[in-house]
Amino acid sequence: ILKIGYLTDMNPTLTYLDNSATTQIDPGVVQVMLPYLTNGCGNPSSEHRLGVAAREVLDAARRSVAQAVGCSAPEVVFTSGATEANALAIRGTTVSSKRRHIVMSAIEHSSALGHSSWAEQQGFEVSIVLPNPSGHIDPESIGALIRPETALVCVQHANNEIGTIQPIEEIGQTIKQRNEKTLFLVDAVQSFTKVPLDIRKARIDFLSISSHKIHGPKGVGALFIRRGLKPQPLFAGGSQENRFRPGTENVPAIAGFGAAVKIAMEKLATTSIQTAALRDRLIQWVREEIPDVSENGVPGPRLPHHASINFHGARAETLVHLLEADGVIVSSGAACHASSPRPTHVLRALGITRDEGTLRFSLSRFSTQTDLDTVIQALKKAVTIARSFR
Ligand SMILES: Cc1ncc(COP(=O)(O)O)c(C=O)c1O
Repeated sequence: ILKIGYLTDMNPTLTYLDNSATTQIDPGVVQVMLPYLTNGCGNPSSEHRLGVAAREVLDAARRSVAQAVGCSAPEVVFTSGATEANALAIRGTTVSSKRRHIVMSAIEHSSALGHSSWAEQQGFEVSIVLPNPSGHIDPESIGALIRPETALVCVQHANNEIGTIQPIEEIGQTIKQRNEKTLFLVDAVQSFTKVPLDIRKARIDFLSISSHKIHGPKGVGALFIRRGLKPQPLFAGGSQENRFRPGTENVPAIAGFGAAVKIAMEKLATTSIQTAALRDRLIQWVREEIPDVSENGVPGPRLPHHASINFHGARAETLVHLLEADGVIVSSGAACHASSPRPTHVLRALGITRDEGTLRFSLSRFSTQTDLDTVIQALKKAVTIARSFR
């Protein structure tokens, strides 16, 4: 049961359904990390035996990640997380590219989409592709934009707010049919070890992933770089990570990431079935018990552990805090500030123009029926109160 002790509060336990934001570290992962935090842990670049031992830790983690991604170990570059992985792929490939056109979906994470204004300042043309009203990207809407000068296309596998899964294989194949030289970056942070993806079939050149979304430690992630590609490193320094990522590797975190990947892959099928069953029960209950609700990300494929629900007539921020007061942690689908409640760029791309009381419920393999019962109890009360404030 995922009950996080909340040290600064009188409330000793919380029901945590915000796993798309971050996840609890698996206790097995902590055990793997501990020796590298507490005992002597060498610098992987050192020649002596402590360095050799640290290198072996990195090698084992790299093999674990590579197996899950479906690539060879040298194609995995460890980074500080997916934000850096996206930056390395986007800036590292486009900075010296003669082709000056980039295509991105409108619902990319800000760690990818945020580079669009930089790219425009550098003289790139950036085409932004809108999803359909359910939040899915039509491969043809990408294909239609590919030109001889298109350097990079960036589409995430699954969306962090509405959980939609994109047809990455079709998108990748469409891109390469139009222009074999156009590179394809897929942000797989939300789907990695949760939804299978064949990176070769999808013709993916770069894939970004993050440890803290899969019950690993924060501050570590990876970029798959297809063999032969050479993005420019983001900073100068040593020759670590095949020269793509200078800086001493975070050995304990990388060891934990490798372990988290292994555990998640072993549990992929059962986690998917379990979380989808709980998620579907939650949605059914909401539909039966709470009037005037709608869902985002449907119809169409979406993450099994994820639901994005609009509680019309309520403010999302109010709902989040009312639920929190009852020990239930979820996130608002709209980044609301007290003074200017405004839907996020993802919700706006779906046509949602004002705060519709959107909540994101994201489960994990630690979620239980008890968690669901707690949420259900708290939700009806929270929605009634929040609606009365409007
Ligand atoms: C889709 C997506 N991409 C990238 C990131 C950034 O990952 P990190 O926290 O490892 O930098 C996140 C994190 O929320 C995400 O959800």
